[in-house]
Amino acid sequence: MSTVVQRVASRRELGSIMDLGAGQGYLSRTLAFQHKLHVLAVDGSEVQTCGAKWFDQRALRSRPSDGELNHVTDMVTPENVSTLLARWSKQQEDEKWLVCGLHACGDLSSLMLRLFIKSNAITSLVNVGCCYHFLTEEHQPRNNESPSSSIPAGFPLSGFVKDQLDYRMGSIAHMLACQTPSRWSDKQEETLKSFEHHFFRALLQYIMVEKGLAHVDKPPIIGRLNKKKDFVSFPVYVQAALKRLQMPQDAISIEEAEAYYAEFKTTRQMDKQIAILWTVRALLAPLLESIVLADRWLYLKEQLADIPDSETKGVWMWPLFDPITSPRNMVIVASK
Ligand SMILES: C[S@@+](CC[C@H](N)C(=O)[O-])C[C@H]1O[C@@H](n2cnc3c(N)ncnc32)[C@H](O)[C@@H]1O
Repeated sequence: MSTVVQRVASRRELGSIMDLGAGQGYLSRTLAFQHKLHVLAVDGSEVQTCGAKWFDQRALRSRPSDGELNHVTDMVTPENVSTLLARWSKQQEDEKWLVCGLHACGDLSSLMLRLFIKSNAITSLVNVGCCYHFLTEEHQPRNNESPSSSIPAGFPLSGFVKDQLDYRMGSIAHMLACQTPSRWSDKQEETLKSFEHHFFRALLQYIMVEKGLAHVDKPPIIGRLNKKKDFVSFPVYVQAALKRLQMPQDAISIEEAEAYYAEFKTTRQMDKQIAILWTVRALLAPLLESIVLADRWLYLKEQLADIPDSETKGVWMWPLFDPITSPRNMVIVASK
């Protein structure tokens, strides 16, 4: 990723890079200390910025470098980005920047694309996205408490998907888009365990509905349980889930849980049906992810159409990392 950023910057003669959502600064450090670029690493979280500074010191102790790296804690928005870049510009007032982001999750990738299009100070973009769980959608009700509520929704961005297709994805598809069925064969044990967990979850809901503890249209939200401790057997899982739901432990007794498990696993082989259903759903993941990525690519193409053609103008997208090691592996590069 750092090589791509370095090459784009060199081609556009850009010396200043903003690493947006820099986290612990892995990319920022490589860009500053190895490629000798002037890097502004920005993250909305003070914890991340402090961690990044600590790692900087450690890296510099083992290999000194004169690269220029500044860390800033700030939530970047379309409103504050110009002031931020002007404050950190090295040479002149109208300095041009490349904005990059590695594993920019939720709406951060969409924000980055919008900043690239709207800000005169930013002329190039290198972006690799991340999970889509927190990607907001135009038609979705949004949480007003969220710090990003002043920012437009992250999907769809392009006129094509928004107006011509009028496509709505929904939160389940956002989550599914992060599945990586191509990894299953390499992680067989983990995969089989996760199928078993899906079966536990489905069977629990079936029992709860049958016993009048939940309604079929309103699935109970259990949240994250301890993968090691709470999944050793179905009755243990049921007890952990009931506790999380703040229901009495005898709402489903251990004997009942054992009986249901024996009937649905051994007699009816429902676990296999759940595995098939989950597999079919997960096989849709690459398609769903492609929709999000194609929307981003189309947005940039549409927005850049108004800018006169030049040698440097363009939008590119290709797989940069090995998808087995790093499933969110598509990089989007754009230049004005
Ligand atoms: C998934 S992490 C990626 C960190 C890093 N780039 C990496 O690859 O290790 C995303 C980071 O973006 C930060 N972030 C999200 N929205 C932001 C915004 N609008 N401005 C600044 N930082 C933001 C979060 O605090 C989080 O640390």
